[in-house]
Amino acid sequence: MEIIRTIEWMKQIARDARAKEHVLGFVPTMGALHAGHISLVRAAKQDCSPVVASIFVNPKQFGPTEDLQKYPRQFEQDVATLENLGVNYLFAPEASEIYPPGFRTSVTVEGLSDRLEGRSRPGHFRGVTTVVLKLFEIVQPQRAYFGRKDVQQLLIIRRMATDLNIDVEIVACPIVREPDGLAMSSRNAYLNAEERRAATVLYQSLSAAKKQIEAGEIETPRLIDTMRQIFSKEPNAALDYAEIVDANTLDPLLSLRRSSLALVAAFVGKTRLIDNAKIEESNGEFSAQL
Ligand code: PAJ
Repeated sequence: MEIIRTIEWMKQIARDARAKEHVLGFVPTMGALHAGHISLVRAAKQDCSPVVASIFVNPKQFGPTEDLQKYPRQFEQDVATLENLGVNYLFAPEASEIYPPGFRTSVTVEGLSDRLEGRSRPGHFRGVTTVVLKLFEIVQPQRAYFGRKDVQQLLIIRRMATDLNIDVEIVACPIVREPDGLAMSSRNAYLNAEERRAATVLYQSLSAAKKQIEAGEIETPRLIDTMRQIFSKEPNAALDYAEIVDANTLDPLLSLRRSSLALVAAFVGKTRLIDNAKIEESNGEFSAQL
């Protein structure tokens, strides 16, 4: 695996791959790789050659009081992980390469970026879409792989790709979980033993809603109530939001639609965690996928 530090060099490799009509697959990450990231790389390896991964802890998507400084960094370990998976190129630029002095431009997907995560983390998605668009321009992938764990991010990137006529196929991959249901996240490393136990409340609340949905409940206020009740029994977690929304527009729903999302965000200690379930209808029956 070749480690690439400059935009110029990365663009050259992308041009060469295009000239040879290779299908370049891309997995953007912020490093501290876990089984969730690995699942995206495996999916990319199945469909594409070459596969490019990136590790870039993007300062523009962290708020002023967020965890940019302490975000987990384990570059050597990540390099070994990617190498073992057969990744061909790792793009790992410095922040000054991506945001040189004088940088002024940003991309915003209006509306979708202001709700849910966007309401709690103003400017976060502007940082995400700006860096993802830059990465797409630099890496020139045919396909890019994103996890459903960050489902709002996925929808926003899809919207951006459609709206700006970006020729990248956005591939969505399922949420990878710990055995007790906690969604894998680089931020799980912040949790102490007690917090780690409490963190399962996100999964539990979604599981309770799933059970209720599969028993026939379609009124979202009742489902949200169920999710809140699970949180109220966990003193070590503070719920930020529990919502059920349309899976395309992210508009809040009063009753389930053919394609809906249940989303939760909570603080466990100082660590902010998110999770979601996809709700689908088939033959008049709703089911939820965690
Ligand atoms: P990061 O949090 O490192 O996540 C990189 C990719 O891994 C994202 O697409 C994310 O959804 C996916 N992922 C994380 N945990 C997952 C899990 N448990 N199951 C499945 N997929 C999972 O998301 C970002 O970085 C950044 O915002 C980025 C897109 C790289 C832009 O900076």
